[in-house]
Amino acid sequence: MQFEAREFTLRDGRKCILRPTHPDDADEMIRYMRETARETEFLLRYPDEVNYTPESEREILGRLLEDPYTVMMAAIVDGKVAGNASISGLGFKRKIRHRCQLAIALYREYWQLGIGTAMISYLSSLAARIGYEQIDLEVAADNASAQALYLKCGFQASGRRLRALKFDDGSYHDEVIMTKLLP
Ligand SMILES: CC(C)(COP(=O)(O)OP(=O)(O)OC[C@H]1O[C@@H](n2cnc3c(N)ncnc32)[C@H](O)[C@@H]1OP(=O)(O)O)[C@@H](O)C(=O)NCCC(=O)NCCS
Repeated sequence: MQFEAREFTLRDGRKCILRPTHPDDADEMIRYMRETARETEFLLRYPDEVNYTPESEREILGRLLEDPYTVMMAAIVDGKVAGNASISGLGFKRKIRHRCQLAIALYREYWQLGIGTAMISYLSSLAARIGYEQIDLEVAADNASAQALYLKCGFQASGRRLRALKFDDGSYHDEVIMTKLLP
């Protein structure tokens, strides 16, 4: 969906703009998905699983921009994509349509500057504006920094999914289930 851009100051004094992703971001978004998957094991995809073409990504970003139930947010620093975060509904069946899920990842060089906190705060207000009543997510049990971010942003842990992730080295990793109730 479309939403107003919002600017704030990072911990290092630079400016960061939170704005909707746009079809023109397609090339940068593909690079971002590959690089962030290379930089951290805590995302669902491996770099070789990012198979979008610029055309297909452009089409997806255009569709998401017009989707009133989805928020795709880019964080822009010095004119470049520093990260991306999104809110999407779980479906339109009446028993689950009050829920949405959140995803977030930043390039490593932008960690710990306050971007994650600002994105989740803005996404939470946009999710409430859409009409969602809660945000759900799953986070790898060994991803301590993301869990600390979510707790700080008002999420509570509500369970654990055993062996939810299997890495290429054969190791299994649990996920923690977290929920934030929206006002
Ligand atoms: C998780 C992630 C989005 C955090 O974003 P961020 O912009 O670095 O977070 P912030 O700077 O807003 O920090 C918010 C809080 O998170 C916690 N935090 C962030 N990085 C941390 C770290 N390396 N170690 C411990 N706590 C950390 C702290 O509680 C911090 O609050 P504080 O600065 O007041 O102490 C970012 O590290 C990232 O993109 N990681 C890789 C992808 C990922 O794991 N995504 C989540 C998948 S479920």
